[in-house]
Amino acid sequence: MSTADRNAESLRSYYRWHARFYDLTRWAFLFGRNQLVRTVATRVPSPSRILEIGCGTGKNLLELARAFPEARITGLDLSADMLARARIKTAAEADRIDLLHRPYDSRVAAEGDEFDLIVISYALSMINPGFDEVVSLCRQDLGENGCIAVVDFHETRWDWFRRWMGVNHVRMEGQILERLEQRFTPLVRKIGSGYGGLWNYVTFVGS
Ligand SMILES: C[S@@+](CC[C@H](N)C(=O)[O-])C[C@H]1O[C@@H](n2cnc3c(N)ncnc32)[C@H](O)[C@@H]1O
Repeated sequence: MSTADRNAESLRSYYRWHARFYDLTRWAFLFGRNQLVRTVATRVPSPSRILEIGCGTGKNLLELARAFPEARITGLDLSADMLARARIKTAAEADRIDLLHRPYDSRVAAEGDEFDLIVISYALSMINPGFDEVVSLCRQDLGENGCIAVVDFHETRWDWFRRWMGVNHVRMEGQILERLEQRFTPLVRKIGSGYGGLWNYVTFVGS
């Protein structure tokens, strides 16, 4: 088994348990998710095909559906337990929200039918190794004028906190913003802080 497959397997088993209380707890530390879709709507006026990689329990899928009522939306996740919750949450929009159960390790869009917008919310920091390949793959899954929108943990100056987040599968070393800036032209680039500077998170929209 490759290191990437081992990471995916370990995330699946992490979310087998965490899916049960994910929505009850994550509002307290996954900052910037509520603002992300609003920010995107000001920069990417009417995407008709949207992909969320690592859609989890579907919070962003619903908000994307509200913000872009004409869009066809795909949510992809490697955890069946998280997707089961997303399926319930998005049931009222099932005619235009598709859910895919798989890791993001190859293209989703067919040639010529690429996405206008790819959203990744607090998933890239968990894809280690492989976040770099995911960012490259997004380029291929996006159409010529497509945009990527990311919100995620950025960095912390506290070693003990970085280590603790590592235990929870999160790498917090500024690696995501660096790679996004190499591969996309920034339209929005914002750093926010959690709990008085315990950590920083990043919001990035790029074309
Ligand atoms: C912290 S949750 C974020 C969920 C959702 N985007 C949100 O903002 O609430 C990370 C999600 O990414 C998924 N994930 C992690 N690595 C993935 C990969 N390589 N391919 C697809 N999904 C992945 C996990 O299963 C999990 O549901």
